[in-house]
Amino acid sequence: MLTVSGLDAFYGSSHVLFGIDLGVGAGEVVVLLGRNGAGKTTTLKSVMGVLDSRSGSIRFKGAEIGALESDEICRRGMGYVPEDCRVFRGLSVLENLEAGRRAPRHGAAGAEAWDEERIFQLFPDLRTFQSRRADSLSGGQQRMLAIARTLMGNPSLLLLDEPSEGLAPLVVQDILEQLRKLKQTGVTILLSEQNLKFSLQLADRVYIIEKGTIKYEGTAQSLADDRATREAYLMV
Ligand SMILES: Nc1ncnc2c1ncn2[C@@H]1O[C@H](COP(=O)(O)OP(=O)(O)OP(=O)(O)O)[C@@H](O)[C@H]1O
Ligand SMILES: [Mg+2]
Repeated sequence: MLTVSGLDAFYGSSHVLFGIDLGVGAGEVVVLLGRNGAGKTTTLKSVMGVLDSRSGSIRFKGAEIGALESDEICRRGMGYVPEDCRVFRGLSVLENLEAGRRAPRHGAAGAEAWDEERIFQLFPDLRTFQSRRADSLSGGQQRMLAIARTLMGNPSLLLLDEPSEGLAPLVVQDILEQLRKLKQTGVTILLSEQNLKFSLQLADRVYIIEKGTIKYEGTAQSLADDRATREAYLMV
């Protein structure tokens, strides 16, 4: 589904990513783990084309997308929920979902198109508050809405930047359960995280990034069993 090779990225003259290689297969959930400032957001922004100061190869569904604009990458079926997961604050939950709607592309994974009913089955709070303005929702509910709105675009690959960040433990647990259910629908996901426990309960495979370089690649189970690696890169 996605193959990144030799990705470098820059902010002005500041070199931030150094030859990142990673891959995500159809139906997989892959987590990019790393501490503050490791390069997680920069990697996702580069894949999505939001950061255009990048070089290397990014192949998505068999086509090179490394030089494309983010709008075009979105049209090709990549959905992105940024760290600050902007929702339309003045619009209702339903209006936000409608704003995200896009017809499924030919050959999109998880053939069944997303609609409000499927979204509400996954995120019951959004059903309850469907007529409320987005800015009246809690932080966790706004994050669910941001994910839901992106799903309404029927992406073949969903990029999530730190979905658990800044949320209370009970809300993190809710999001974890919802993403586990989402995984069962066959959606392919690449997400970034600092929360190891969260990641290990969701991921098929993990990469650890530090200082813009991939330091580790393995299954969630192999990382769970590898205390030395966790201590070296994640301090847990
Ligand atoms: N707009 C920017 N301009 C210059 N440098 C930046 C910019 N954004 C990030 N950086 C630098 O790039 C490096 C990687 O940052 P990035 O935001 O990708 O890390 P991250 O892993 O997402 O961290 P966090 O967990 O805090 O979100 C850091 O050294 C950071 O200071
Ligand atoms: Mg980040």
